[in-house]
Order: sequence, then structure tokens, then C-alpha cells
Amino acid sequence: MSTQFDVIVIGAGPGGYIAAIRAAQLGYRVACIDEWKNAKGGAAPGGTCTNVGCIPSKALLQSSEHFDHANHHFAEHGISVGTPKMDVAKMLARKDSVVKQNNDGILYLFKKNKVTFFHGRGSFVKAVPEGYEIAVQGDKAETLLGQQVIVATGSSPRALPGTPFDEENILSNDGALRIGATPKKLGVIGAGVIGLEMGSVWRRLGAEVTILEGMPTFLGMADEAVAKEAKKVFDKQGLKVEVGAKVGEVKVAKKGVSVAYTNAKGEAQTLDVDKLIVSIGRVANTQGLNAEAVGLKLDARGAIEVDDECRTSLKGVWAIGDVVRGPMLAHKAEEEGVAVAERIAGQHGHVNFDTIPSVIYTSPEIAWVGKTEQQLKEAGVKYKAGSFPFLANGRARALGDTTGFVKMIADAETDEILGVHMIGPLVSELISEAVVAMEFKASAEDIARICHAHPTLSEATKEAALAVDKRTLNF
Ligand code: FAD
Ligand code: NAI
Repeated sequence: MSTQFDVIVIGAGPGGYIAAIRAAQLGYRVACIDEWKNAKGGAAPGGTCTNVGCIPSKALLQSSEHFDHANHHFAEHGISVGTPKMDVAKMLARKDSVVKQNNDGILYLFKKNKVTFFHGRGSFVKAVPEGYEIAVQGDKAETLLGQQVIVATGSSPRALPGTPFDEENILSNDGALRIGATPKKLGVIGAGVIGLEMGSVWRRLGAEVTILEGMPTFLGMADEAVAKEAKKVFDKQGLKVEVGAKVGEVKVAKKGVSVAYTNAKGEAQTLDVDKLIVSIGRVANTQGLNAEAVGLKLDARGAIEVDDECRTSLKGVWAIGDVVRGPMLAHKAEEEGVAVAERIAGQHGHVNFDTIPSVIYTSPEIAWVGKTEQQLKEAGVKYKAGSFPFLANGRARALGDTTGFVKMIADAETDEILGVHMIGPLVSELISEAVVAMEFKASAEDIARICHAHPTLSEATKEAALAVDKRTLNF
């Protein structure tokens, strides 16, 4: 007899574990299955985000930023520490312990919310009148019966055609987070979010970093003004980005990796590096689910096909997070997890795709929500825009970090905020105000008239709102 659950969640990344907790809060009997193993073979819930994504990358970004400050900024505060040294092994051990705290935190939350956790691979067996039979292949094999199933199996790194990851020389995000010593020369394919974040980590630690980007423009998904400012600052940091690069053969030699490519001018080039990170996007994890057994439909990109509310082609089967359409972001996966659990309970869970923030945790940080100026131009929307530089913000001066600006775009007639674009210190935190404002359909004037504490970085957001009406007070 198989153990019965109201809801079975396959995958315990940010989508799956949050969906499981919310379903349990709503009174359901919930199982969550996840196959991720830590170095000792034990359970490590949290998915890509916790194990090889958001959390470890931010741990390394923090360590490398401290190192960079010790190298370049302490002196201006009157602090002398001699020549700082980086113990890479210790930095990696700290990162691993941050990851473990998160893994353990999720196991604790499962216990607290009475979610039954199974460590192993979950796959469909068959549809039955009561729901679906799901096999778990782990330390032991068992079969569960779920009335409702939520698939949250996430994504995996995409490899260059014919160049598989060996995690020694050719690294995915996983290997990029485990480089044991700062390479002299680091190559990165793809100047997207991973390329810029991981490139920054190793650049700050002293590597010569070259990023080859296939598209002709840098950071095409961001507002043009932000992308331009970012390029200027990254150039200054020595983070070399070549756009319009067509990557050809990648050869692993005795000492490092050799990448043949054609540059934007069409000239044949070779990039010789000690390590190569390939960060050219990710693909949905659907293999191993035995989706064929129940006829679960995939879309043209191999992701699970869902409607706007995460319903799949099968009654009672839902899919969320990286394994479905939409931005591959942890907070998007979480929101879908909550919404699906609530829909199962007959409530009206909702995810507003127009207000999902994007953040790149480089230095300066980059964050935005809503439409870019170029998108509004293309759509023929009449807008007005205003910017405020951190150079004119007192707190940024005190921090010693005045790079960047906040830019706000509002509808020309109604003044409703249509997009907010930031580059500068801690904008990963500042963007939340813009998200809240847009969720409440605020106007630029609303933000301009709200009292912001002084001296804070958030005053730059208020001033950007004032700039929309051409009446900044501090610039
Ligand atoms: P995942 O986190 O991928 O989790 C899926 C889980 O399901 C995994 O544990 C997997 O092992 C398991 N699984 C798969 N198949 C099965 C099966 N058949 N049976 C059992 N278990 C299975 N996003 C942000 O928002 N902010 C960031 O700062 C950020 N940084 C990132 C940095 C890097 C280097 C990377 C690679 C990604 C980053 N992301 C970030 C993206 C983020 O990690 C993903 O969007 C997020 O993890 C998706 O969550 P998910 O629950 O859909 O899937
Ligand atoms: P990405 O989609 O952000 O960037 C991939 C880049 O590679 C693009 O600029 C693309 O034009 C380029 N590219 C693709 N094929 C190429 C080729 N053959 N040669 C040269 N360039 C090529 O993907 P990335 O960086 O791999 O990250 C994967 C996902 O993880 C992203 O969707 C992102 O949402 C998520 N992520 C989020 C983070 C955050 O929120 N801070 C941090 C890291 C990852």
C-alpha cells in the first residue's frame, strides 16, 4: 500500500519547499521529494538556489568584496592592514557553512510545518482514480500516492555544443563556486547574470577576467542608461567584456583552456585561460520525471507547458519555477509555489509578472522592475523619466560609494510609475520600495511626497521621483 498525501511536491528548491510549506499551512498532508546530495551524500534541500546558486554566490561576492575593500578602500578611512591576503580555502569553507545553515533551516521548516521529506528522485508511475502514483528512488524505494502533484524540479546549466562541463577546466556555476585557488586568467562565456557575478568574484581576488558575450550589446535586458554605466564601471574594474563574440572550438590543453572565437569585427581570435566558466543560460529539468508515463506535455524549449496559473496538461498536476516559462529567479519560483498551494485550496493565488524585480549582485549592484525606456519607446507609450545620481546623496558619500543612479519612468499623462532602474550601492534592497509602489499603482508624485529617512540611500529614489517632475532638491 502506498503512503497517501493530499499534495506531493517534487523538488525542494525555493519553488518546491515554499509550495510544500504553504500547502501544509493550508491544512494539507504534504510530501516533498528532493534528490540533491551534499558532499557526504546526505539530503541538501534548497535546490540550485541554496546549493549552487543564489546563496553560495552571494557568500563569495561578500568575501571578495571585503577583500576588495581591504585592498582599495580601507586606507581612505585611515585603516592600515598591510597587504591583505586571501585564503581561498577558508573563503570556500565559509561559503559551504552558509549553504549548510540554509539546508538545515529548510529541514527544520519541514518539521515545523509537518511536511514529510523524502530524499531521492521522484518520478511519475501512473495516474490512478485518486490522483498519481509517484515513485521515490532514494536510500530506499517507495511509492507514494498524491491527489495533487506540484513539479518544481528546477533547471541545469546549458553547456556549449560539443563542450561538456568537466568542472575542472570547463566550469558550470557549480565548478565556478569551487575554484580552489585564484586563477591567473579566467575566461567566461556569456555576460549574463552568472558571468558578471562570478566574473566579479574572481576579478576582485586578482584574476584577469575576460567575458565573451555573443550578443552585440552589453546587458541588453537592462535599461540602456544602466547598461552603459555598468559597462563603464566594469571596464574600470578590469572586468573585460567583449560583445559580439562568436565562440568556436574550445580545447582543453594540459595547462588550461583555449577558446577560438570571432570578434565583433569578424576577426579570428584565441582566448587562452586557466579556467573557463560557461554561463549561457539554463535548461529545464524534466528528464528523470518519467513525464511520458502520464503524458505530461513539454513546450518547444523542453520546459513543462503550463497556463498562466501553473496548471499543466494534466488535471491535478502543477509546475512552478525554473522548470516552466518565465524568468529563472528564486523569488518568482517562490511566488508561484505560494500561488499554486492557494489555488489548490480554492483560493485566488496570484503572481504579478509585471513587478518581479531583477537584481545583479555586482559592485555596483544593478536592480530594476517594470519597463525599460527602450521597451516603452518600442511600444509607443508616452513617458517621462527622471534620474538622480548617488554622487549627490549624503549617505552614499559617507559610505564612500557614489557610483550610479536611480532612474524612474512614469506615464506621461497619469504619472503612474512604469519602471525603476538602479545601479549603485545596495540597490538590491532599494528596489523593494519601487516594487511596492508599482504593486500599489503609485505615481512618481506619491514617492516624491513620501518622507524618506535622512541620510539614506533611499532618498535617491525619492529624488528620482522628483526628477520625473524636474524638481530635484539636491541635484
Ligand atoms: P531549483 O532551485 O533548481 O530546485 C529544484 C530541485 O529539484 C533541486 O534540488 C533538484 O535536485 C530537484 N530535482 C530535480 N528533479 C528531481 C526529481 N525527479 N526528483 C527529486 N528531486 C528533483 N535567483 C535569484 O532570484 N537570485 C539570485 O541571486 C540568484 N543567483 C543565482 C546564482 C547562480 C550561480 C545560479 C545558477 C542561479 C541563481 N539564481 C538566482 C536562480 C535561482 O537559483 C533559480 O531561479 C531557483 O533556484 C529556481 O528554483 P526552483 O525551485 O524552480 O528550482
Ligand atoms: P543569462 O541568461 O543571464 O545570460 C546568458 C548570457 O550568455 C546572455 O547574455 C547570452 O546572450 C549569452 N550567450 C548565450 N549563448 C552564448 C554563446 N554561445 N556565446 C556567447 N554568449 C552567449 O544566463 P546565466 O548567466 O547562465 O544565468 C542563468 C539564469 O540564472 C538566469 O536566467 C538568471 O535569471 C539566473 N540567475 C540569477 C541571478 C540573480 O538573480 N542575481 C544570479 C545568477 C543567475
